Amino acid sequence: MMKKIVFLTLLSLIMNAVVSQNSIQVGNDGKSWNVVTRSTVYQLKVENGDVRMVSYGDKSLIEWAGRPLGAEVPARGGFANATPQIEVIFADGVRDIELAFKSFEIVTINGYQTLKITQADKYYLFEVVSFIASIPEYDLIEKWIEVRNTGKKGIIKVENLLSGSVFLPKDAYELTHYSAVWGYEFTPHTTKLTPGVKTIQVKDFKSYGSSSFMVRPEGETDPFNGKVWFGSIKYSGNWRVDFDKSFNGPLQIVSGMNFWDQEFYLKPGQVFTTPSVVFGYTNKGTEGVTHSLTAYIREQLLPSSHREKTRPVLYNSWYATTFNVNEEHQLALAKVAKELGVEVFVIDDGWFKGRVNDRAGLGDWTVDLNKFPNGLQPMIEKINALGLDFGIWIEPEMVNPNSDLYRAHPDWVFHFPNRERHLGRNQLILNLAREDVYQYLYQSFHKLLKENNIKFIKWDMNKMMSDPGFPAAPADEQRAVRINYVENLYRLVETLRKEFPDVWFENCSSGGGRIDMAMNSRFDFNWASDNTDPVDRIFIQDAYLTLFPSNTMISWVTHEDHHRQNHPLEYKFDVCMAGVLGVGYDITKWTDKEKEVAKAKIARYKEIRKTVHTGTPYRLISPFYENRSILQFVNKEQTESIVFAYQLAELPNNMTNETKRSPLVQLRGLSPTTRYSVEGVEGVYSGDFLMKTGIEMPLRGAFKSRILKITKQ
Ligand code: DGJ
Repeated sequence: MMKKIVFLTLLSLIMNAVVSQNSIQVGNDGKSWNVVTRSTVYQLKVENGDVRMVSYGDKSLIEWAGRPLGAEVPARGGFANATPQIEVIFADGVRDIELAFKSFEIVTINGYQTLKITQADKYYLFEVVSFIASIPEYDLIEKWIEVRNTGKKGIIKVENLLSGSVFLPKDAYELTHYSAVWGYEFTPHTTKLTPGVKTIQVKDFKSYGSSSFMVRPEGETDPFNGKVWFGSIKYSGNWRVDFDKSFNGPLQIVSGMNFWDQEFYLKPGQVFTTPSVVFGYTNKGTEGVTHSLTAYIREQLLPSSHREKTRPVLYNSWYATTFNVNEEHQLALAKVAKELGVEVFVIDDGWFKGRVNDRAGLGDWTVDLNKFPNGLQPMIEKINALGLDFGIWIEPEMVNPNSDLYRAHPDWVFHFPNRERHLGRNQLILNLAREDVYQYLYQSFHKLLKENNIKFIKWDMNKMMSDPGFPAAPADEQRAVRINYVENLYRLVETLRKEFPDVWFENCSSGGGRIDMAMNSRFDFNWASDNTDPVDRIFIQDAYLTLFPSNTMISWVTHEDHHRQNHPLEYKFDVCMAGVLGVGYDITKWTDKEKEVAKAKIARYKEIRKTVHTGTPYRLISPFYENRSILQFVNKEQTESIVFAYQLAELPNNMTNETKRSPLVQLRGLSPTTRYSVEGVEGVYSGDFLMKTGIEMPLRGAFKSRILKITKQ
């Protein structure tokens, strides 16, 4: 089962070909290299026969002639002075690796110039090929490695194989990372990196946070200026990032799949390719990070078939109906949804055989004829006749023990013999590493999409990983089960997308449990959180929009009110309009007044969504620092900007207005010499004035919001 695994295949299909000349510079000796982007350089060279990393940062470092900071691919062997990227055991039991430079090439992969350096062990038939791609326009580099058993006999056991490592020069650093829980996705944490290793990791397939990180010199906190090294692993599931701070030397950052409870065997002739890790550097503070990552995902990673398409306004039935779905009510919802201006109607959980509650049905992907006696297609036709596209919820990777699938194939789930099968939300995880499971899922969803006019899939995944056993696999493949699972997950999405190219795909995992760059290259959207309370969402969205583009963030207006503040419907809409707007109420119960509000908001959203989805994002004021949140998006031409302003709860004595901070907010990203009008404000102002002096956001009192359009005159 273990075969050559290449995680980059899809990227070659979806990336724009952007070949930049001279992104890789080679020294005269053919043994030193600069991997150059618009404003950064990554330097490496051969020293004493080893390939070593010299520096990474601002492009001015090209002139740097300092000593290397560490090995390009730190491997277990010799002195244990860095976190190893590779740990293997050769057939004779030797555990140390000694790599020596062999050759290099400059190749073009996915349109990007890539430095490919081959190193070989000094004694064993084992090669390591490093790839370092320059992604110049986003100031990113992408690293991954290939390991090869070049021998004719002898199996190499791979105990650890990370994707990429970089060293930062000796300094005091602070790390910001996003580790969280259900309902509070992407909570930012900032911590000093003291000597030792700080690890952020996921052993499961669910995280609620991100492998994305930012490292800044201690004390540099300006969001708009200053050095930041950042990165993210393109992998969905068990990942890790280690920050190894030596007492008196550099800081190493190394990331890849998490080899906790994982190993594989490299047979003679076999090659294994890791997923890639993206690293970046900016001197423009955290805003520079946001601009690099969000533009890269939006312009290069998102599935190419839908990348440039306008994101539709959604209706989703989950909060209105939960499992209690039937044709009559869904049609009633769809009718109102259409009146409001919705464009795609999505039926959530509950539509398939036996799915009366969350204790039954998962795995049996045929329509429940008790709820839909005529099947789905007649209902879809009526929804289409209203002028709406139709979407549907699925949870492919799961099974309820109470299902025909599980009764027929109890061995298809992750499990260990003689051990309990731990349920989560009354369900188990199908072992997608198995080819028969893959084929069953492929056939089921191929049929569903073929027989019904479905234009939107919401792909959910609700159970935490447990019992990751695969007793039927050969002993030497059992601990590679997560690797094969993720590979087949990607294969399943890619195959279905290829066969049904006009279907939108939403990535969900009990809210934002599996959001990463690898999913973003296969899914058009993410469901950021099950928490739809507008106040909690303001925080989640601020963090989400730091790392991911707004056109991927689905946000529904629902009845949720965790803080018992009875927020106005207008406020809820304004929060959701900063992403991909959806409605999740039981709108058949809405009053005329509520429908009028929704209609007006959806119409307004359609006017502004182009700039919100494709413009450059600016987080002017973060709710993590002030009692309000202000977001701004500026279109490429700098002719239009949309500002979202949200007040949070009032502090005692209304202190945000009275003390602490100026009410003036300086806009960003405008053209200084262009004159703009500001909606609701008299006069015309230069971009320079709006960015240096600023405007007062006309908000008073708790839970008020405004959306302002700024237009070139
Ligand atoms: C969890 C998701 O996050 C929700 O949006 C909803 O789809 C439920 N699952 C359905 O079971």
